[in-house]
Amino acid sequence: MRKDPEVSSPAILFLCLGNICRSPLAEGAARAAFARAGIAATIDSAGTGDWHVGHPPDRRAQAEAQRRGVDIAGLRARQLSQSDFYDFDLILAADTENLREARALAPPDATAELMLMLNLVRGRMGNSVADPYYGADDGFAVTWGDVDAVAAALVARFGPSSG
Ligand code: 4NP
Repeated sequence: MRKDPEVSSPAILFLCLGNICRSPLAEGAARAAFARAGIAATIDSAGTGDWHVGHPPDRRAQAEAQRRGVDIAGLRARQLSQSDFYDFDLILAADTENLREARALAPPDATAELMLMLNLVRGRMGNSVADPYYGADDGFAVTWGDVDAVAAALVARFGPSSG
């Protein structure tokens, strides 16, 4: 049966290390995908680290998103907090290190489901989204491919035909 959108509108938090490369790209891809599908959702991103708090996404991430028609320039990095474990239904970590850090911070009565974001993508269970920060610029295109596949999987999961 179709869920009541007022009740089922998902709250999804993307998590990486700095919140300036992978998770803002994931946030941008998911916002665009949910908007295209006409599905209401709360979508945000955060980092496990605090080095870049308040900063906009890395310029290479902004450029990659722009190439895909998505504007992430207005996003600002923030650090994961314990309240996120109640405020979001799903916390999706980019890599196994982010997942480990999040598990360590999670309150015992956390209500959010926590997993690797690529676990949502067929054939990518257990995979990490590679960190493009120290690599060549074309790493951001690979990142986009990964996070856009995650966004499509989320739309399929929360779309009107889902249970
Ligand atoms: P992100 O990439 O976790 O995808 O945002 C990184 C950004 C910054 C750093 C590492 C990774 N850093 O070490 O500052």
